[in-house]
Amino acid sequence: MPRLPLIIDTDTGSDDAVALLLAAAGGLGDIHAVTTVAGNVPLRTATRNALISLEVAGCPQIPVHPGCGRPMMRSLSSAQHVHGEDGMGDIGLPEPSTLPEDSHAVDVLLSYPRRHPGLLTLVTLAPLTNVAAALTLDPLLFSRYRHVYCMAGAADLAGNISATAEFNVWADPEAARIVTRAATPDKVTWIGWDVSRQDAVMTASDQQRLLDIGTPMATFAHNINRTVADWARDVTGLPGYDLPDPVAMAVALDPGLVTRQERAHVQISVADETRGQMIVDRRVSAPAPNITLVRRVDEAGFKRLLFDTVASPVPHPTYAGASLGETPVPHPADAGAPIDI
Ligand code: RIB
Ligand code: CA
Repeated sequence: MPRLPLIIDTDTGSDDAVALLLAAAGGLGDIHAVTTVAGNVPLRTATRNALISLEVAGCPQIPVHPGCGRPMMRSLSSAQHVHGEDGMGDIGLPEPSTLPEDSHAVDVLLSYPRRHPGLLTLVTLAPLTNVAAALTLDPLLFSRYRHVYCMAGAADLAGNISATAEFNVWADPEAARIVTRAATPDKVTWIGWDVSRQDAVMTASDQQRLLDIGTPMATFAHNINRTVADWARDVTGLPGYDLPDPVAMAVALDPGLVTRQERAHVQISVADETRGQMIVDRRVSAPAPNITLVRRVDEAGFKRLLFDTVASPVPHPTYAGASLGETPVPHPADAGAPIDI
């Protein structure tokens, strides 16, 4: 099956990192570029973590482009209390051996789909600052992508960063509002925290399974999530830590994993009291739907993809561009060498 040509926008915390492993080494994705944005951690750290994660996945050749360093209208409120100071569980990861690109993330989000109209899938795992900035320069941006999947919001209106808001939308609600106003449900799908909380929780036995698999990617995925595991135990009350970005990535890679979805009209509150709250209008008199909201995912199928991916001792080579008929980028011989975790 041909691999899905991807651009991934990320604020590389520990769950983003696992999503990057799925896309880079799961055999289903062909990452053309990664763009980074401030969110979980400051921009420089998000960029560092993306470089590390791609190296662990055996794909150091994938270009990483730094983007916006703060939300559109507000100062940055990070989630380092959830993911750790470095966003990756503060386990002392080695610095990446690769460097980010010079060209800006927003330029990449604008130029790539113009070069490959209708072929690229954009997956966003972060506050929507980069995407909103691109939309202000090109209001037809979404029409140029094959599809746009966002880990964003909570369709059941139960939040994680506040009682009513999910972090990616809460961190930059003005950006999320720009995205919802430009979206159409045939082009834009949101996978919210409600899905992650129900169908992507890593229980104690799932966590043990990562340790038992014992490959570099499995060990990496387990160790970097130790801080979020503590946060889940002390704050969310879930039976483990959930993986919002990996389950959103899994839906993009294999839409057959979706077991329930709906189309609805979604607005975003930017008022301080209800910052980042999704307003989902399901009335008969509601405006036309603008977003497809995934509601439930096949948990067993998601976890099968996750465990199969991290169990591969030699990461699947992923060649940027090959899926579009471009010359494959040779997979560096030493890229498969394990990185001490
Ligand atoms: O609310 C979950 C989202 O916020 C995920 O993208 C996680 O990485 C954090 O950025
Ligand atoms: Ca994220």
